Amino acid sequence: MFDTTTLLLLAFTLLLTLTYRTLQPSFKFPAASPKLTSISSFPILGATKFFTARWQFFRHARDQSPTGNFSFFLGKHPVVGLTGVEGRKTFFESRELGFGEGGQTRLIGGRYAVLFGQSPNALSESNVAIQDKDFAAPGGYFQKRITKMLRTENFGKSLPHLMKDVRASMDKLAQDPKGITDPFESLYRVVFQLTMRIVGCDDIAEDPVLLEKTLKLYETVEASTNATTILFPWLPTISSIKRTVAGGRIYMIFNKIVNDRKKNGTRRDDPLQFLMDQADSMERIIEFVVGALFAGLLNSGVNVAWVLTYLSTSPYWLSKIRSEITSAASKHCPDSSLPLIDQLTHIPVEAWESEFPNLDLCLKDSIRLQMPGTAFRKNISGRDIPSGTPGEVIPADAFVAYALGDISLNPEVYTDPETWDPSRYLPGREEDKKVPHAYIGWGSGRHPCLGMRFAKLEQNIITAFFLAMFDFELTDSKGVRMAEPPKPDFDAHSAEKPKVRPFLKYKLR
Ligand code: HEM
Ligand SMILES: *[C@@H]1O[C@H](CO)[C@@H](O)[C@H](O)[C@H]1NC(C)=O
Ligand SMILES: *[C@@H]1O[C@H](CO)[C@@H](O)[C@H](O)[C@H]1NC(C)=O
Ligand SMILES: *[C@@H]1O[C@H](CO)[C@@H](O)[C@H](O)[C@H]1NC(C)=O
Ligand SMILES: *[C@@H]1O[C@H](CO)[C@@H](O)[C@H](O)[C@H]1NC(C)=O
Repeated sequence: MFDTTTLLLLAFTLLLTLTYRTLQPSFKFPAASPKLTSISSFPILGATKFFTARWQFFRHARDQSPTGNFSFFLGKHPVVGLTGVEGRKTFFESRELGFGEGGQTRLIGGRYAVLFGQSPNALSESNVAIQDKDFAAPGGYFQKRITKMLRTENFGKSLPHLMKDVRASMDKLAQDPKGITDPFESLYRVVFQLTMRIVGCDDIAEDPVLLEKTLKLYETVEASTNATTILFPWLPTISSIKRTVAGGRIYMIFNKIVNDRKKNGTRRDDPLQFLMDQADSMERIIEFVVGALFAGLLNSGVNVAWVLTYLSTSPYWLSKIRSEITSAASKHCPDSSLPLIDQLTHIPVEAWESEFPNLDLCLKDSIRLQMPGTAFRKNISGRDIPSGTPGEVIPADAFVAYALGDISLNPEVYTDPETWDPSRYLPGREEDKKVPHAYIGWGSGRHPCLGMRFAKLEQNIITAFFLAMFDFELTDSKGVRMAEPPKPDFDAHSAEKPKVRPFLKYKLR
């Protein structure tokens, strides 16, 4: 007979072996896949530098690889890093590389399946797509609904609300006696409100307290992913618990609004009503709204603030944008005696979309700089590599990563790549046309951003209203003038608010 100690020891050994077996990658890269990189390679964890300094990791692995492509592990998940023009073509054009169906989970920059996936942070396809296959698939539920919401007639219908919201925020800034603001907070909030209008619901957009509460919950969900939660999604960490709680609260907020509407027969002309009218399930509605807020907020919110930051130290572009604003206003408002900010309310949606070409360039180069990290796909072909295949092949079921800096910060394509310079796109230079997929700020190929038009629209409205109302300069938090905007963190995983925030000191014009 075994005594208790031996039994315990046996059980412990068994547990250790099992744990090691589960954590250890079972995947073997076939001969035809790009070489395993030796940069930052650890047992069980894989390439930790992918989390700590992503852009450095990519550059080193690329420069060390004879072909520019390389393989590595994240935890037990196999990943192929592609670089160069051929790598880009494959990444953005190949039909075998899936985007929503497992390739693009929330962590890895993904946009769907935020709350109710069993393990939405996982690199594996264990996200909501498993429970609800149609949700994130190409042409599936999410794409269908968001495409409908982002149609032109909805922009036209929403425009008066959007302008009213922006105007109210500007009035609030004007009344603040301090006259200094962190655009990454104040203008980010405006973007959240406008995004709530276009993919969420009016009840929240119109209630400042509820809006703030929802934003806080949303930020909790967003902050709850880190290397640990990604590699070991089944670990019950504090952040995964916080995420679940925050997700539940968001659910309750929307659930109450839906139930109130049903109970007393109130209808509103907003995206939530549209989803309710399709008889969508509550799970889908909420997963949709939160996923769409994730897709819509971060990049738009951060870039609105960055563009004003850049303009505050660039008199040349500032004056160009100011004249764009005054000419659009005078073209569409018959009464030139009105204050400029009131004239702006006469600009129709087509003009907001087409009459600000210079402001578009300012945004374009801001996005190029504020798009760090990697985009992801997954080889969903399901086939095996035929033996004896020459050249480099991405194995079936491997993830594929492309570091956006590979092109966006490439000095052979973009002169002085770390500098914000909208004139690089003008005729004569056209750096974004030098090589295929040279500009990928809105995605490229098979999965372009579905929200680009809305993002530009809100960008133009917010910037125009701010410039119409204020003169401003770049300062630190104490109001001391700064000569230069901060540098973005190119090792970040996604667009970010700068760690040391710049402020805008403003006064009424
Ligand atoms: C400045 C603002 C924005 C930037 C820079 C941006 C950028 C991008 C990029 C680069 C992708 C492709 C990702 C990849 O290839 O892996 C993408 C996809 C997407 N974006 Fe945006 N985006 C912005 C705003 C928005 C907004 C406001 C919305 C919606 C309200 C939105 C909705 C989406 C969706 C739904 C996709 C996925 C497309 C698909 O399913 O194929 N984006 N965006
Ligand atoms: C890198 O991978 C891509 C995509 O699989 C491929 O087209 C390209 O030829 C590879 N690069 C080299 C130099 O082999
Ligand atoms: C991630 O979050 C968990 C739980 O909040 C924390 O314990 C852990 O230290 C974090 N890991 C990293 C790598 O930041
Ligand atoms: C109907 O529900 C809304 C939604 O929250 C609520 O604010 C409103 O007071 C209700 N109206 C009536 C007449 O009960
Ligand atoms: C995806 O995997 C299959 C099987 O391994 C392979 O034949 C195919 O070339 C891969 N696709 C890409 C784009 O590399």
